[in-house]
Amino acid sequence: MLTSSQPLKEIFFCPEESDFYSHCLETLVLRNCLGTEAIAEFGSGDGSPVIKALLRTDFTGTVYGFELNNSAYEAANLKIERYELGNKYIIHNRSLFDVSTPEASYLVSNPPYLPAVDNKLYQPLLHGGVEGITVTKKLLSLNYQNVLTLASSYSNPEGLINYALAKGYHVSDFIVSPMQFGYYSSEPKVKDQIGKMRSEGRAFYSEKMYLLAGVLFTKEVSPKGNLSTELVKVMTSL
Ligand SMILES: C[S@@+](CC[C@H](N)C(=O)[O-])C[C@H]1O[C@@H](n2cnc3c(N)ncnc32)[C@H](O)[C@@H]1O
Repeated sequence: MLTSSQPLKEIFFCPEESDFYSHCLETLVLRNCLGTEAIAEFGSGDGSPVIKALLRTDFTGTVYGFELNNSAYEAANLKIERYELGNKYIIHNRSLFDVSTPEASYLVSNPPYLPAVDNKLYQPLLHGGVEGITVTKKLLSLNYQNVLTLASSYSNPEGLINYALAKGYHVSDFIVSPMQFGYYSSEPKVKDQIGKMRSEGRAFYSEKMYLLAGVLFTKEVSPKGNLSTELVKVMTSL
């Protein structure tokens, strides 16, 4: 039972989701890339997912994070300092959309994906537009060679995958995990919107859980081919 919502309102806090993102970063990106690349990250939060993934791998490149929330940015820098990762993880306190796109071979993100009619939510910066995929679509418009993003089964997953395909991406790998509805996704305004989307066949979830996918979109077809049909099947299965 939550006794105070203040910390949750200030900095994104959902360890189950952040750990899943960290696992996706490690297995779909850091263990598969050359190890020396530049990686851009949208929405670093308190920095823990990237930090944990860096500590588990031999990656020697640099992750350039962008985080708008000042409290999260400060918390992330304290953690980076504590783990002496200042040469591998550099965070900017601004939006990736406000700068000329940094050069990087990967763009990675656990993006804001809450669907709601407006952004008057516990954390406005977690609003993903009316269907929850506005920010993710914007990330897929930046033309990075590889994009690792989390995608939710209640945020029009098929619409998102079709958008990526139209932008010239393929699904080269993915990992799916069930997630329980938590503090942010249980907010009445979000529940109302996903209920409406479910009745229209654009949101998929059961009473207590939804599916979260870590999806690696790439501009080149990987040896595994194009897994988009399989991903749509899984993400619309609840
Ligand atoms: C779902 S949280 C993920 C945080 C962290 N990566 C994690 O997984 O624990 C999304 C983050 O994106 C940040 N964010 C939202 N819009 C942003 C923008 N335009 N530029 C940079 N960060 C943004 C939010 O403040 C939030 O910290």
